[in-house]
Amino acid sequence: MEKKVIIDTDPGIDDAVALAMALFDPSLDVLAITAVAGNVHAEQATKNVQTILDQLDPPRLPRIGAATSPNPPLEKTTSHVFGNDGLGNSNFPVAELHNLHPSEKLLVEEVRAAPDEVTIIALGPLTNIARAIHRDPNWASQVGHLIIMGGTVSAPGNVTPAAEFNIYSDPVSAQEVFRSKMTKTLVPLDITDPLIFSYDFLDRLPSEDSRGGRFLRKILPFTYRAHRQVLGLEGIWLADAIAMVAATNPSLFRIMDDMSADVETNGFLTKGMTVFDRRVHRKWKANLAVAMEMDSDQVYETILKALARCGESTLDS
Ligand code: BDR
Ligand code: CA
Repeated sequence: MEKKVIIDTDPGIDDAVALAMALFDPSLDVLAITAVAGNVHAEQATKNVQTILDQLDPPRLPRIGAATSPNPPLEKTTSHVFGNDGLGNSNFPVAELHNLHPSEKLLVEEVRAAPDEVTIIALGPLTNIARAIHRDPNWASQVGHLIIMGGTVSAPGNVTPAAEFNIYSDPVSAQEVFRSKMTKTLVPLDITDPLIFSYDFLDRLPSEDSRGGRFLRKILPFTYRAHRQVLGLEGIWLADAIAMVAATNPSLFRIMDDMSADVETNGFLTKGMTVFDRRVHRKWKANLAVAMEMDSDQVYETILKALARCGESTLDS
């Protein structure tokens, strides 16, 4: 049976790769894609979701939720690695839809329509998830599963020494979500950072005789160049693509299912840090599972296979 999913995303090139994987996966029923501010501001995030759907034109069109600005506003975006528009300054034309419902409304509606059946894959800050909880306090207990790309257990942060970008961008929302009753699994930087997608990955993308191949080959070179120039890396990170594999192929991960974590919302040096209670005599209650290790080779191949499917499904006729 297909797994019903909602993808909450702040595209972002690695988000776009994750969407290309999901939209042609026969094991998934993508009910909605809900935009959230993060890599880019709210309006651009919504536009990017529309652009990605427009470019890929998948067989089944999910609903689209519009991002609204977080409060307080974003402190940082990631134009240095993903371009000013989040998609490698690709300038895709798109006929923007207006009057879209806000993301949190779609999240509430879709989960209510299929209680306990929906997996939410959160690839950006947790703003929309926290807002959905505010809209309906019973909602959290109806979510089947929340998979979160974010945080760190022992690894350093990526936006500050202590914090990962998605959690740092809206730590108050992240704290509410961590403390909520939802069944959640965290996919932290500890497992996503060590896997660098080298130029071999770029070479193995679907060819330009498909919509998917053209799209991926247009957006990804920017971030390869940026990772080399800004970070001195001969490859890129694709944290969100790895989180997508955690949703489709959990057996490739070692998941510890009774971890206790909270989020620092105020610290001068530690804002957005995910703090785990790993004392011998732990005092905090278990509140989430964490993907601690993965079979990196298999995860890498699974991502390429999903993208190959996107290419095959969008071949020029
Ligand atoms: C996360 O931050 C964003 O920049 C990426 O899209 C990913 O979701 C990695 O820390
Ligand atoms: Ca993201």
